[in-house]
Amino acid sequence: MSVQSAGSGRGVTTTTLREMKRRGEKIAALTAYDYLFARLVDEAGTDVVLVGDSLAQVVLGYDSTLPVTLDDMIHHARAVRRGVRRALLVVDLPFLTYQVSREEAIRNAGRVLKETGAAAVKLEGGSPEIADTIRDLVRVGIPVMAHLGFTPQSVNTIGTRVQGREAGGLERLLAEARAVEEAGAFSVVLELVPGPIAAAVTASLSIPPIGIGAGAGCDGQVLVLHDMLGLNEGFTPRFLRRFGELGEATRAAVGGYVEAVRSGEYPAAEHTFE
Ligand code: KIV
Repeated sequence: MSVQSAGSGRGVTTTTLREMKRRGEKIAALTAYDYLFARLVDEAGTDVVLVGDSLAQVVLGYDSTLPVTLDDMIHHARAVRRGVRRALLVVDLPFLTYQVSREEAIRNAGRVLKETGAAAVKLEGGSPEIADTIRDLVRVGIPVMAHLGFTPQSVNTIGTRVQGREAGGLERLLAEARAVEEAGAFSVVLELVPGPIAAAVTASLSIPPIGIGAGAGCDGQVLVLHDMLGLNEGFTPRFLRRFGELGEATRAAVGGYVEAVRSGEYPAAEHTFE
């Protein structure tokens, strides 16, 4: 199945990602939650823009992804959609919008596609029930990105730790990855998975795994935009590389503004209408 993410014929599609895997080209994915950042991320050449339910923590200030609602996700995804021209736009289905029944999953995922213009949804888990849900979504025309390893919506049952290190971990993750692939997922996020296990899963699938904290053996990488920009200063996990220090830069710029206002240096004559 090929899904056009953008209005132009040059947009990234689910087929593009599969072809990139075949050619050995790495996929670069990032989150975005608003119009301006989405435009910057898209213009810089990102292949996949994800409106992640990390929105809950990064933008809304909750301490997990659980409280974010479908309406929150749709509201932000509509803004992101207006900023994305080329990348494939994927939107997370929040906690309890797809686990209760397959009918509800179709209704909620359908709302996301109809109301935001996104090309696909992402959901967490690799159980037989989730695989059946993926199958149903794909059957009605909704492309699905799966999410295995550490699944943040299960933080209260699995904690926040690297997944798959236990005896049989590789076999379990391989079985889940094959199940979501067989169900029709076009890609899968692998989060907090030991590098060798993620590489083995990647080699065994025809769909591209995209890693976060899963090493270089995946077909692509995804990071939370605010983390890699250095805006989320307290968050320093081992896997994260900061490609900017926008937290520091923002504080310095705002400090400069406050000082200039207080001293009367701003606004100057050139900022003032005659
Ligand atoms: O919600 C999110 O941002 C995600 C990424 C970390 C993959 O699921």
